Amino acid sequence: MRTTVGIIGGGPAGLLLARLLHAEGVDCVVLESRTREYVEQRQRAGILEQGTVDALRDCGAGTRMDAEGLVHEGIELRFDRQRHRIDFPSLTGGRSVMVYAQTEVVKDLVALQLADGPPLLFEAQAIAVEKPESDRPVVRFTHRGREQTLECEYVIGCDGFHGIARAAVPAAVRRTYERAYPYSWLGILADVPPSCEELIYARGERGFALNSMRSPTVSRLYLQVPNGTDPADWPDDRIWDELDARFAVDGDWSLERGPVTAKSVTPMRSYVTEPMRYGRILLAGDAAHIVPPTGAKGLNLAVSDVRIMARAFAELRRTGSAALLDAYSDDCLRRVWQATRFSYEMTTMLHTDPEAQAFEGRVQLARLHRIAASGAAAAELAANYTGLPLG
Ligand code: FAD
Ligand code: DHB
Repeated sequence: MRTTVGIIGGGPAGLLLARLLHAEGVDCVVLESRTREYVEQRQRAGILEQGTVDALRDCGAGTRMDAEGLVHEGIELRFDRQRHRIDFPSLTGGRSVMVYAQTEVVKDLVALQLADGPPLLFEAQAIAVEKPESDRPVVRFTHRGREQTLECEYVIGCDGFHGIARAAVPAAVRRTYERAYPYSWLGILADVPPSCEELIYARGERGFALNSMRSPTVSRLYLQVPNGTDPADWPDDRIWDELDARFAVDGDWSLERGPVTAKSVTPMRSYVTEPMRYGRILLAGDAAHIVPPTGAKGLNLAVSDVRIMARAFAELRRTGSAALLDAYSDDCLRRVWQATRFSYEMTTMLHTDPEAQAFEGRVQLARLHRIAASGAAAAELAANYTGLPLG
């Protein structure tokens, strides 16, 4: 097979890139190792920044999101048994976020791609990228048990953290920056209407908790747990009791309980690989960087990478200039490091570090009190949460 742009991975990054390139008349092929059912059910992120919402609308994938997504104009910070609301529109000049699950974004993009898009092959597993420094890089992959090749002008690695594309950048060129955190998230989905209108980020001596949602009838909740936690050690009653304790406030508030339909543990890590381009291979999304989930930046960062990349391919096609493609890695990494910083700050401000001294806990509270007391500090949080400009 031959194409202009070979995309490895049919997650949010690969699928959206295919739509954006299609709209610009650039042909491409998407190779996805899993089945359609698997990628459409994989539970992950739920909060879309304004820029992500705009990008999905612009490529025709906004209809169901606009009908079913929930616009959120703020979040609540909970600490010292007190509640503090951050109002996004007044602090950011009118910006907000959308609650719409990654599973639904993927379903919408897959449906569009299969209806009128360039090829999207499921159960097509890339094995290696060859000759990335040449004008005709090649992806070797297996599809339906047969080994095949995809000859491209450019190869895009959108194959997530465990993919193979990153390894095509020679070790001598590649630099990685990494931090592991001494805690994980236990996440549940529950068939119960959310007990809050907006997300609650709660810090307390027992650890962090997050109250989120997927729809008016489905709640999504997270608890900080030690690394290595087995979800089997957390029967449903234990989870609800712990959530109750961590969200407790002075005044009137209660947590509604309901049937738990999914339960999983996610470790937390920051990871950035540089550069994001080598020769004719470009990396995007989790293939190049991972953030801890606090602040909901992972999916949004994957989307901004491919928006920057699509703009570069559009310029190449319209004017013949590769200037934006040459700037791709630097343009993305500036934004990636801002999101990495924000996710790190949110994570370390809200979680209880089992290895830290009491001093750190006091500094966390001082940071939270500062956000509650200062419009400038709250505006900084709101600007980052709703998404920094693409640049
Ligand atoms: P992915 O979604 O990982 O997609 C990569 C795709 O490539 C996959 O479909 C995979 O099957 C495919 N692939 C892999 N290898 C190959 C190969 N060799 N050949 C072909 N295809 C291949 N972010 C948030 O903002 N909030 C959250 O709550 C949150 N929760 C998360 C929970 C978990 C368990 C994980 C892993 C991530 C979570 N994230 C969250 C992060 C967010 O979901 C990711 O940042 C986002 O999915 C990145 O999209 P992507 O397209 O870059 O990568
Ligand atoms: C969700 C995940 C996050 O990491 C976050 O900061 C907010 C919401 C969610 O899955 O709903």
